[in-house]
Amino acid sequence: MLEVDSKKLNLGGWMLNINSKLNIGNFVLKNRVVVPPMASQTAELDGRITPKTIEHYTKLASSNASMIMVEYTYVHQSGKSEMNQLGISSDFHINGLKKLARRIKKYGAVAAIQLTHAGGKSSKDTTGDRLISPSGISVPVKGSQLEVPSVANEEDVQLLKQSFLSAAKRAYAAEFDVVELHSAHGYGLNQWISPITNQRSDYYGGTVENRFRLLLEIVNLIKKELPSLALSVRIPGMDHLEGGLTIEHSVKLAVLLENAGVRIINVSSGIGGWKRPSSRYGEGYLVADAATIQAKVKIPVIGVGAIQTATYINNSLLTNQFSLAAVGRAILSCPKWGVKVGLQ
Ligand SMILES: Cc1cc2nc3c(=O)[nH]c(=O)nc-3n(C[C@H](O)[C@H](O)[C@H](O)COP(=O)(O)O)c2cc1C
Repeated sequence: MLEVDSKKLNLGGWMLNINSKLNIGNFVLKNRVVVPPMASQTAELDGRITPKTIEHYTKLASSNASMIMVEYTYVHQSGKSEMNQLGISSDFHINGLKKLARRIKKYGAVAAIQLTHAGGKSSKDTTGDRLISPSGISVPVKGSQLEVPSVANEEDVQLLKQSFLSAAKRAYAAEFDVVELHSAHGYGLNQWISPITNQRSDYYGGTVENRFRLLLEIVNLIKKELPSLALSVRIPGMDHLEGGLTIEHSVKLAVLLENAGVRIINVSSGIGGWKRPSSRYGEGYLVADAATIQAKVKIPVIGVGAIQTATYINNSLLTNQFSLAAVGRAILSCPKWGVKVGLQ
């Protein structure tokens, strides 16, 4: 159980809790619970949403969470990682995504969407194309051996940048309030920031700053073209693999992202994937990393990892572990979770 600092308990009669509002630039989150991105595998083979997708997100939005983050969408065919993954790689995806954003907002929630390029964390069978990665190192995944991807050349780097920018424009056209760049769980951008998979010796590798360059260039491009769009970035607290990203790296990255105008940092895990690392236990198993980062940035940080009680969320808010709690599987298995814990 977290220790609550009694001085923070009562701020002039106002107590921070699960139902406290949070102002994020252009909009206000009605409470401190967000549904994190979770792949629903409900899309057509060409990436368009289906009635099942709408039904799925309607259930999630009925939880009363303040922000519903639509699952990872592929920004380019070469970065698709599941056959029935939602797409945002073409303009023909926009109409369906707009229906989805509108449905989420109908429930008073902010609509967010996650943009992903899988890089080496896919297969040629799924992409129909070669896999693009920083250094041609297959992404270590527990229990399976992934393909050896190709090494990105200058054109590939441009393709990644333009694909993320075009996807962000589509998300904006589809009326999403927040766009999240997926740079965690071993997917494409995580491969560029991690020393395990990025062993380049050019402008995009070698030093920590160089490894962070592609992600920051993408942020800057989107900020320049869509200044009013709120950006979130999902980053690893650490890779949870030897020789990988450390919490010190991630703090540095979070500060750079904040300075670049990112509005939310969503802290999860890295190359090891989103599941509970063997060294972590219990409710909020990744929250310690979110807390370390929240202590260094002023923008809201999302904490995650088997969070399922209002008590845990309230204590974490009071002790400044994070500004927002991601509740994934608890809401997925029971959308009434919000009502049960008194979420308003
Ligand atoms: C079915 C499922 C699909 C997921 N898909 C994504 C995804 O698309 N993008 C992502 O960043 N994380 C994904 N995750 C990880 C979740 O966002 C979250 O970090 C994880 O479930 C831990 O939170 P929880 O313990 O509250 O469920 C997925 C998790 C689950 C259970």
